[in-house]
Amino acid sequence: MEERKVVTVVFVDLTASTELSALLDPERFRRVMSAYYAEVVEELESLRGRAENFAGDAVLGVFGVPTSRDDDALRAVRASLDIQQRVADLGERLRLPVPLRVRIGVNTGAVAVVADPSVRSVVLGAAVNLAARLQQAAEPGEILLGETTRHLVRQHVEVGPRRDVVAKGFEGTVRAWPVTGLSLRTARRTIPLVNRKRELALLSDTFDRVTETSRAHLVSLFGEPGIGKSRLAEEFRNALPPGTKVLSGRASALEEDETFAPLAEMVRRELGVESDVDPALLREKLEDAVEGACEPVETQQIVGRLGMALGLGADTGEEWKYRVAEVRAGLVGFVTGLARREPVVMIFEDLHLAQPAFLELVEQAVREARRVPLMVLCVARWELLEERPDWAGGIPDALTLYLEPLTSKHSVALALEAGEGLDPETADLIATHAGGNPFFIVETTGLMMHEEADAPAGTVRETVSGRLLPPTVQAVVAARIDRLPADARRLVRRASVFPRSNFHVTDLERIVDVREETLATLEDEELFVREEDREGVWRFRHGLLRDVAYDSLSKRERRDLHLRVAESLADEDPDKYPRSIAYHLEQAAKASLDLDPSDRSLADRAIGALSAAGDLARRGIESRAAVDLYERALALAGPERDWGVREARILTGIGEARYWLGEFDQAAGALSKALEFGIDDIRVRTHASRFLGDISLSVQGDREGATRLFDQALEAARELGDPWALARTLLQAGWVPYWSDDLPGARAAFEEALAVARGNPEGDPWAEARALSTLATIASSDSSQEESLRLGEEALDIGERMGDPFTVAVAKENVANWLRRLWRLEEAKRVSDESVETFRELDARWELASGLITRGLIERLRDALDDAERDLREAVRLCRELKERSISVWATRELVKTLLVKGDLGEARAVLSQSTTEAAERAFLESPVFAEALVLLAEGRAEEATALASEVLEHERARGWPNEIAARTWWTGALFGPEAAGGSAQVEAARERLEDVRWIEAIREPESMKKAAWSST
Ligand SMILES: Nc1ncnc2c1ncn2[C@@H]1O[C@H](COP(=O)(O)OP(=O)(O)O)[C@@H](O)[C@H]1O
Ligand SMILES: [Mg+2]
Repeated sequence: MEERKVVTVVFVDLTASTELSALLDPERFRRVMSAYYAEVVEELESLRGRAENFAGDAVLGVFGVPTSRDDDALRAVRASLDIQQRVADLGERLRLPVPLRVRIGVNTGAVAVVADPSVRSVVLGAAVNLAARLQQAAEPGEILLGETTRHLVRQHVEVGPRRDVVAKGFEGTVRAWPVTGLSLRTARRTIPLVNRKRELALLSDTFDRVTETSRAHLVSLFGEPGIGKSRLAEEFRNALPPGTKVLSGRASALEEDETFAPLAEMVRRELGVESDVDPALLREKLEDAVEGACEPVETQQIVGRLGMALGLGADTGEEWKYRVAEVRAGLVGFVTGLARREPVVMIFEDLHLAQPAFLELVEQAVREARRVPLMVLCVARWELLEERPDWAGGIPDALTLYLEPLTSKHSVALALEAGEGLDPETADLIATHAGGNPFFIVETTGLMMHEEADAPAGTVRETVSGRLLPPTVQAVVAARIDRLPADARRLVRRASVFPRSNFHVTDLERIVDVREETLATLEDEELFVREEDREGVWRFRHGLLRDVAYDSLSKRERRDLHLRVAESLADEDPDKYPRSIAYHLEQAAKASLDLDPSDRSLADRAIGALSAAGDLARRGIESRAAVDLYERALALAGPERDWGVREARILTGIGEARYWLGEFDQAAGALSKALEFGIDDIRVRTHASRFLGDISLSVQGDREGATRLFDQALEAARELGDPWALARTLLQAGWVPYWSDDLPGARAAFEEALAVARGNPEGDPWAEARALSTLATIASSDSSQEESLRLGEEALDIGERMGDPFTVAVAKENVANWLRRLWRLEEAKRVSDESVETFRELDARWELASGLITRGLIERLRDALDDAERDLREAVRLCRELKERSISVWATRELVKTLLVKGDLGEARAVLSQSTTEAAERAFLESPVFAEALVLLAEGRAEEATALASEVLEHERARGWPNEIAARTWWTGALFGPEAAGGSAQVEAARERLEDVRWIEAIREPESMKKAAWSST
């Protein structure tokens, strides 16, 4: 692989080596030489150069490989100056008989970079040759720059008069300039990396391991603010070999689409678009990128899934929790595609600010992408581990590093590097003060240098050591902000009202005049940095700088500035930035309440905005964000005794969002409270009663309480005339009669749900599909299985038209069951395979358990007994993990039957006895009691078996579901003799009914079970 690049090369050669070799004994000479190489290489690398090639005493340093940066030339010159110094110091330290001096040539130009795995890369070209000629022309201790380099660094580097050099192999003479020094600020912009060698080595070794094993690794880097995490990540990134794909994203405190924000930023960066890009263009670019990486057949699906993280794509349904899984599947698909060509490194910064769902997404993506050369580097403050002590748990290739403070030796070294011209005592003083925190050192030396610049020559040391250093890093930063020119100070302080990690100039302009010169000053003063490759986007160089600037704002200023931002955003487009508007109103309100607690006007506006943003988040995919927004709204609402309908509605929102998050206890708490404050409000009654009803029914098993709540919800929804709420309430409420064996009651509820969904003028396909699948289940108990299949297929059709994979998979499992009963086993198998695959991919564990039972059954009927056993065992395990109450009995029963058919009576008994304890408090028919009868029969305990079977049949008859009675009668007759089933006439009538309703499976299965099980004993 060869690549042309513009780089800056540094050619370094030792002047006195021949002389030295004559003066020193060979052993010592060798040691001196290797010490010299080590110094040069270390210096080059600390400024992100590479030592590429050694020829004789010469070292070739290259800046701009693999990644070019606009300050490559500057770093090359800085490294050259430092090398001069280091080599001279080395000579003195070793007390050599002649001083150690180097000649250095620096030149910028195009070269060919040949990637060679054994030496990483080789650099060739005229630019390299010219650097060598410049080096030869330099005096000992001198650095000569070529013309291009000189041009690139002219603002930052002082040079002596031009010199014309005769260079072999070049026409005429070549112009060269000797370096005399750096300007002060330049030195600061390129502070070399101090130490962190082991951490860098660990990271790059891990990367090598990633490529060698082709396995995904999760690396986490933790430490306190300012300790050097971002810098280390940056150094690692810069040292990656060419042909590595690097993607990076950052979590931040406030984003419109919180959960996926870091991923969205990463993808947008990769596509080269800003967040306000036109959706059509965004989709086009995304399609191009995915097409370039993935197989054509997967492209559309991956685009759709990744698009969700970017806010593309319609809202398809209500299974919000699976949206995360879809986005993850899209990410894994995209990265897997990229990694087919080259190793991929993903870097996420500031992950302690990310949402829990995003952290799960990252972990799960690494687990799923196991056979891929992918390294995910997560950078976060220590808090992340406090909140998520099990972070990275269960990932085999995981590495976690904690970044320690610098040692005092390295702190002094950093202070000397960062504070050009600082004397050692002052450096010591600063280092002691800083407790090994590089950020503190860089800031303090920055402050010192201003004092130096302001003070008359020769007085620096006195100024510094003569008075106390500011005691905290906050005070240091505050002092630096205080000494800015007025316009720059005004700009930083105002910029601090934006909490995001970066901001656009147009945002700043909402509250302050922005001039290019002022930005340049702030860049020079090291407060702002430009975002690379993003026009007009800036950020604070470090989060702590923003915090200090914000602290310096008075309450009054905060109130006015936040309010202005909120109003200006709302003027522009109130629907585009609901969360930002709410945030700024919230901050304005907090400041205002502090100033005057009796004035609640801003608080009321903020509550309105926060709860509206919460509603949007809840209706979108962001339940966690919704809870956060609602809770912030309540925090502004004053004491509980004054709460009313407004608060009740917010509490309802919290309850619903927590319901979707599966936090049922907290949901129930919020919903009950909502009903307490808002029982007179029809919306509260509609929504709070419905969700509370569902929790009563499905979680607490309280059918009576559920009935009362659902009735209340239905009445309110009807009165309100909200077809969405009504359809959903009916879909939940219908299960109460169903579980009370009232088939007509259940059917009436689900049919009404279907009618309401169909009558909804805006269409409600989600509810329509659910109603149809459920009606298919009801029909299977009293009508033809053909009818169930028809209803199920209709639901599937709707799901496919919606393009919602989850709805499709639910419908497919439903259809597979009717195909099975109709004995269309091959079709049933295919459809159930598809549903299982989707549930697995979406990590929908409850549905996966259910889908596996369906498939296991089909496999058993097809005589694929091992497959059946495997699926059913997995289903039983999942049910146990989920503490599942409704389908676990079904899973156990089918597993027991399968084991019987396999002739493994011992195992069948073992599985059964494990589950009877679990099912102790279940209703008779909901326990695996019929399986028990079969086991007893197989064990030769015919009398007990028959008695039990008859008892089951009696219960079944009492329930009164015609198809189930027929099936049970037929089964009992076939396996335990007609007497046990009430006589041959009844058995025959049952068979006829089963034939009429086309439940072929029920007719055939007892025969096959009898043959298999009873022949083995
Ligand atoms: N080992 C180091 N050598 C030189 N400078 C460092 C080192 N570690 C950190 N710095 C500098 O200290 C400042 C804070 O480091 P940063 O990486 O931003 O901290 P963090 O990300 O941990 O908050 C930055 O200016 C950075 O360049
Ligand atoms: Mg950082």
